[in-house]
Amino acid sequence: MSRHWLWCGLLCVGCVGGSQRQTDVQFQQYYAEGEGLYLQHCANCHQTNGAGLGRVYPPLANSDYIKDNAAAVVCLMKYGIKDELVVNGVRYNKPMPGIPTLTNLELAELATYIANSWGNSGPMVHVSAVPAIIEDCNPQ
Ligand code: HEC
Repeated sequence: MSRHWLWCGLLCVGCVGGSQRQTDVQFQQYYAEGEGLYLQHCANCHQTNGAGLGRVYPPLANSDYIKDNAAAVVCLMKYGIKDELVVNGVRYNKPMPGIPTLTNLELAELATYIANSWGNSGPMVHVSAVPAIIEDCNPQ
């Protein structure tokens, strides 16, 4: 009897450890891909270090906007944004062009990368969450 429970306990621990590792591996993949996409599509405005540029391009580093608006961040990458927004108490009001050709996976990778870089620490945005988010903000 006690032997039975011991095995059960070992199996359960192994199982939890395994899925945690799988999540970590996926996070690392999203993060690495997201970094490449960021350098390609975003760094010319927001800078490689996420610091932004004066009053023109808002910072992504330590951004309370990214922390508080996870869904809106996915939407503005895809469809752009024209409205005024506030990042860490500073107002910005210059349109950001969207990139409609970004795939759902690329949006998830970018969102995961920026939410976990330069002092930001947020959840991983999984590709399965993206369709519902962009459906909600599709301007068409
Ligand atoms: C042509 C310059 C430009 C490019 C390229 C660009 N952005 Fe932006 N971004 C802006 C501007 C300008 C704003 C402020 C928009 C406003 O005031 O409505 C902004 C706002 C943001 C915000 C919300 C505010 C903040 O700082 O937290 C995020 C997040 C963001 N951009 C991420 C990205 C990501 C990720 C990419 C690449 C996929 C990207 N941007 C590409 C210019 C740009």
